[in-house]
Amino acid sequence: MTAPTLRIDNLRLGFKGHHGLVEVLHGVSLHIRKGERVALVGESGSGKSVTARIVLGMLQQLKSARISGTVEFEGTDLEALKPSARHVLRGTRMSMIFQDPTSSLNPVYTISTQFHEVLRRAEAGITAEQARRKAISALADVSINEPERVLDSYAFQLSGGMNQRVMIAMALVNNPTLLLADEPGTALDVTVQAQTLRLMSDLVEKHRTSVLFISHNLGVVREFADRVYVIYKGNIVEQGPTEALFANPLHPYTRALLSAVPRITGGGIPDIEDDPSTFLAPLVAHPGASETELLS
Ligand SMILES: Nc1ncnc2c1ncn2[C@@H]1O[C@H](COP(=O)(O)OP(=O)(O)O)[C@@H](O)[C@H]1O
Ligand SMILES: [Mg+2]
Repeated sequence: MTAPTLRIDNLRLGFKGHHGLVEVLHGVSLHIRKGERVALVGESGSGKSVTARIVLGMLQQLKSARISGTVEFEGTDLEALKPSARHVLRGTRMSMIFQDPTSSLNPVYTISTQFHEVLRRAEAGITAEQARRKAISALADVSINEPERVLDSYAFQLSGGMNQRVMIAMALVNNPTLLLADEPGTALDVTVQAQTLRLMSDLVEKHRTSVLFISHNLGVVREFADRVYVIYKGNIVEQGPTEALFANPLHPYTRALLSAVPRITGGGIPDIEDDPSTFLAPLVAHPGASETELLS
């Protein structure tokens, strides 16, 4: 059997501050098989982004971060890689789409220059002309009609929706095996968000890219993911195939998240802190969930 694209085992993270160590991940385990689209869902502050940042190797250099546990990418323990090897991995076989494209695209370089930079990671000697040709085809894949104009623009000259498409094209241009999408499009209006998600969905399906899809919105997840992990205050509290989880949410927190879905504005997630069953409830796993994660 081939190794899963991503395997996270018993991941713990704490931040050291003035008041000692504050733990924010308490032993997170999850895996993504090849070509699988997996969602990590939870409210703001539950530990989604830090999980993705550890996978990308971006929290490891932070002085205050205390990390333990295992992260394996295609069977290789990331701890065993030199920082330079990790750097190469990012943007080539592993890439990320962030929530806010304008802040992750560089404001002082044209889109064309940024594409060249990304392509250089996979192919050091690629010329500007070759990079431009690849970028044009990548932009066409995300339904951008005037790729030449977009390439010669700066991020601030483009709309939010356009920038999001550029980000998706850039994240996929080196044909990564794993895409980490951290609340993509949440900064956009709902219609544009739906369009860009569909674009991303079509592309990853075409290329059989494995995806870790991060969201606070279970409704969005339902359309996009094969399997779901629900994270609550740094613990995975429920996991299973998307349809099983939606048909029969078992953990009180998942139910609370689901009941929050129809509300478009305000409201948010009911506080379940007072409900003792939240803390007594064991990890809930649906049929089809991973055996090893049940044991941990
Ligand atoms: N650099 C940091 N230093 C201290 N605490 C942090 C840092 N980054 C994140 N946190 C804390 O870790 C927790 C999880 O954050 P995050 O993963 O960003 O949540 P989310 O699920 O909204 O993406 C939060 O309580 C957040 O305040
Ligand atoms: Mg986040």
